[in-house]
Amino acid sequence: MADGSSLYITTPIFYVNDVPHIGHAYTEVAADVLARWHRQAGDDTWMLTGTDEHGQKILRTATANGVTPKEWADKLVAEAWKPLLQTVDIANDDFIRTTDDRHELNVQKFLQKLYDDGHIYTGEYEGYYCVGCEEYKQQSELVPGAGEYEGQLVCAIHSKPVELLHEKNYFFRMSAFADKLLALYEERPDFVQPESARNEAVAFVKQGLADLSISRSTFDWGVKVPWDESHVVYVWFDALLNYITAVGYGQDDEEFARRWPAQHVIGKDILRFHAVIWPAMLLAAGLDVPKGIFGHGWLLVGGEKMSKSKLTGIAPEQITETFGSDAFRYYFLRAIAFGQDGSFSWEDLAARYQAELANGFGNLASRVVAMITRYRDGVVPAAGSLTEADLEIAAVERRATDASWAAVDRLAIHEAIGSAWELVDALNGYLTIEEPWTLAKDPAKADRLETVLATAYHGLGTLAVLLSPVLPKATEKLWTALGGPGTVQEQRIDRAHEWTIGERVTPLEALFPRVEVVE
Ligand code: MSP
Repeated sequence: MADGSSLYITTPIFYVNDVPHIGHAYTEVAADVLARWHRQAGDDTWMLTGTDEHGQKILRTATANGVTPKEWADKLVAEAWKPLLQTVDIANDDFIRTTDDRHELNVQKFLQKLYDDGHIYTGEYEGYYCVGCEEYKQQSELVPGAGEYEGQLVCAIHSKPVELLHEKNYFFRMSAFADKLLALYEERPDFVQPESARNEAVAFVKQGLADLSISRSTFDWGVKVPWDESHVVYVWFDALLNYITAVGYGQDDEEFARRWPAQHVIGKDILRFHAVIWPAMLLAAGLDVPKGIFGHGWLLVGGEKMSKSKLTGIAPEQITETFGSDAFRYYFLRAIAFGQDGSFSWEDLAARYQAELANGFGNLASRVVAMITRYRDGVVPAAGSLTEADLEIAAVERRATDASWAAVDRLAIHEAIGSAWELVDALNGYLTIEEPWTLAKDPAKADRLETVLATAYHGLGTLAVLLSPVLPKATEKLWTALGGPGTVQEQRIDRAHEWTIGERVTPLEALFPRVEVVE
């Protein structure tokens, strides 16, 4: 896709009970890179992120802190969740909060429609509820607790006790959609990605789909059920609807038609909600199901899913303050195959920063700009007759452009960066072989020097465009130094190799300065 297709991409909306860690930032960055890439290819792109503010988890945290849940949410959104977007340089188009009027009112509209159409009934439910997951658990999903919870059954994800609840609730007749869901997974093999996530969704539905309790009546922090104000909407049912309320569902049909359906980027921990419950809700309402759902892997610390509740959370600023936001973005998207788990370590981050960003890309950029400044007074050289080596660089530029775009289309972000990086390696290899610094010593080789510098200059410009979704800050600096037209983000990424060269280069500060890692 390119040239005006529409791409609406979303992140999960994040619980405001706590501050963000690098796992949350990872999801943001992945969705942002995809959005930036599509935007730069001329697609009608919209990126949404936001916060999930209702439910018992938030209510309890607020109460424990002596404030109302809304006060708590306002504080966390202002002090933690919106600042996260700056910390890792997210260019989102919208930010939705589930306490926004535009959301609450249209959640009610959606629910009323399902109720009127007979998809909702009253029932009783008894089960084990995990407040951390905001989900009823099957007995088979519980494990024996350890330490202070010895002797109790705890949630396998949060390692905290579950609560036995008995409530009279409203139920969504989700079981009625099992066959339709299975047909959907069958007809659209890439509806749920990667393959492992698709298999999980299929197996889950095949084992038998129960109806879903969609209201709670023992607390009131949520959207009121429109026909029975003694109930609030179950927090997940409420939260999933953000994806449509944010783009005009119930109030702006034109905007809704323009944006929906979305490509959802989520962590695999919340796959069932997105790949099973959410499409069933949409089918019930007669709306299009999502374009796709991509469940990425977990960031692991010490072999376990990193999380605040297990005290393994690392704040994104811990990384960006030392390495910068570009390095954060690059590292997590390059080092981890998108869709698989990845272990985070400071050593690996520091090593890749030095080898790939500082020495591989940064140094290449500085050297080429410095040589044009030194040998040609900053005037962009013109290529003369071309050798095979020069032509090969042009070929790599074209290949890197095509291959990285094709990879983005498959949501294979790590491959897209890998394809662009072939150009970094090719240019470094080219300079080593052509030795422009040696050519510069021999006035008889002035023409060849011009051609080599022109070839390297052109390659660098292509790299700046190709890497701009991942490294927005560094590539903008490079683009300015190269004297390219406008901003780097205005350049078409699907034709990166066709960029229009400038007239003069200007000095370039180190793109990735040396860092001292304090362990
Ligand atoms: N509020 C729900 C989502 C509702 S979407 C309609 C929720 N929020 S959350 O704050 O717990 O964030 C969940 C998301 O954060 C995960 O799906 C994942 O994208 C990201 N991550 C949280 N911990 C993570 C890791 N350790 N590793 C990778 N991503 C992680 O669930």
